Amino acid sequence: MCGIIGCTGVKCASKILYKGLEDLEYRGYDSAGIAVLDGGKIFSVKRRGRVSEIKSGAEKLRGTSGIGHTRWATHGRPSDENAHPHTAGAFSVVHNGIIENYAVLREELVSEGHVFSSQTDSEVVVHLLNKYYSGDLKAAVLSAVERLKGAFALCILCEGYEGFVAVKYRNPIIVGVGGDALYAASDMPALAGLAESVAVLKDGQIAFASEGKITLCDFNGGAAGLSLSPIPAAARSTRLGGFPHYMIKEINEIPAAVKNTVHAFTEEKCYAALTRAAKKRGGFKDIILCGCGTAYHSALAAAYTAEELLGIPVRAETAGEFRYKKSAANSGTLFVAVSQSGETADTVEAARAAKGAGACVAAVTNVPYSALTGVADIVVPVRAGTEVCVAATKSYCGQIAALALTVTALKGRQAYIKMLAELKDIGAKCSAAISDCMVEAAARACASSSGVYFIGRGIDYPVALEGSLKLKEVSYVPGEGYPAGELKHGTIALIDGGTLTVAVITDKTLAEKTASAIEQIYSRGGRAAVVYASGCAPENLIERAEFAIEVPASSDSISPIVSVIPLQLIAYRTAVILGRDPDKPRNLAKSVTVE
Ligand code: F6R
Repeated sequence: MCGIIGCTGVKCASKILYKGLEDLEYRGYDSAGIAVLDGGKIFSVKRRGRVSEIKSGAEKLRGTSGIGHTRWATHGRPSDENAHPHTAGAFSVVHNGIIENYAVLREELVSEGHVFSSQTDSEVVVHLLNKYYSGDLKAAVLSAVERLKGAFALCILCEGYEGFVAVKYRNPIIVGVGGDALYAASDMPALAGLAESVAVLKDGQIAFASEGKITLCDFNGGAAGLSLSPIPAAARSTRLGGFPHYMIKEINEIPAAVKNTVHAFTEEKCYAALTRAAKKRGGFKDIILCGCGTAYHSALAAAYTAEELLGIPVRAETAGEFRYKKSAANSGTLFVAVSQSGETADTVEAARAAKGAGACVAAVTNVPYSALTGVADIVVPVRAGTEVCVAATKSYCGQIAALALTVTALKGRQAYIKMLAELKDIGAKCSAAISDCMVEAAARACASSSGVYFIGRGIDYPVALEGSLKLKEVSYVPGEGYPAGELKHGTIALIDGGTLTVAVITDKTLAEKTASAIEQIYSRGGRAAVVYASGCAPENLIERAEFAIEVPASSDSISPIVSVIPLQLIAYRTAVILGRDPDKPRNLAKSVTVE
């Protein structure tokens, strides 16, 4: 959504903040800003556009305490005025989240004479702080926070207070200590290289960071203990390391992502946790797998195989829909929330709703300290490593592996051991898919098409959805993902010589059926291509295809880990050919922490 950062006790705050904003930029990149305290007064720079837009302004700022922000707009279009920090009176504020009651608060504050300079929901916070401030910073923060509804992580500067205040409610904030300096940021990687020890703030906590010390209290003002631990090695800030973009770097990291995920599943004793939870409830009666975007696609892929294997009802739902369904889960339900970031508001709220209905909640996530893990009864780790590119790639493959282990663990030891063995070989198959993949011609074909449709049946359908999402998201070439049999029920009207249809075929038993869908495309003057697992596609389909990409075959539940790779690579190359930035596609942000 947005990235926020704060620091105090450093030599030059703006330098640290600028560098931190570069690390946080994947969270939002439509505007950026920094405010510092210099001689007890607030000075700031903020601009519409990428973080680099504030570089020269930031270089002019002096001072040892400050806050920074990189924005993904929710209220108010991207503009200089709507960029954070919002500064008024004695305060400057950066905010990640959403203030749901901002309209009422704004009306009240305006009627009291406060003058607003932006269209954002966030600006009410700075005016509330001024309203309640009469020399006691803590009292002002407590009173302001008490008025806010919604989700908010805040960093606050106050004139005369050499330090900053961090507030956490439903959006993440981590505080850190490095030597005499104190920090706060939306995520760990932004603190790597700065802080030696860190603490993840809990909902309803406020941190006062000043003069080498962080003091915590709750929203009622009661003291809270701060428990710092060394910053995890996995949070090391990532660099491109010779790759031109994070997207291609992260696709190349898929074999390691899968290997580390399998290792973490065994090391963190997930098998025992899952079977214990099932036993406690007399066996799960149904499973709901839930997520958004790419995470929903991995949930859908797992649902395909889980129902067959476990013989109980299993379904995948998008989190935004599940949340508002009545009686969707109960005490017999295993609710599996899938989220790379563990922060996506829809997914976290869906997990809360399921838990409220009595379900056992398992969180499949790449971020162990996320909001989702706080809700979950069981955490199933994905260890894909920090994913910087906005488009999810290696985390999807890690999720498929973690979900396959989860499902087989519920089936029993034999199925689980078999899955562990299958996953041992998958890294080599991924490496082969990455290095052997000839995507250039495919990407050129996609780049010159008016629309690209991806089709698949069974386990290949969620992969088709993911291939389509990836291509749209990073290249802006329109299209859809469809079950192969559905295309003829309407969407086939869009097929002409300008469109391309890509069939994904990894299940030999369904290959002929998908091939007939392709015949229907050819009969209407359309163009077609195929991504297939070795030995699974009919020869005549391969021969006639505009491009045909072969990947190593693997068992159904984990075949998406390999078959998605060419689709990710095609999306990446198409974006590059069309001159798009694959790491930061327009209108997007890495994690969506508003509904
Ligand atoms: C697509 C993509 C998004 C995310 C979705 C959920 O490439 O990255 O569709 O998958 O926003 O995010 P998480 O997994 O963090 O909950």
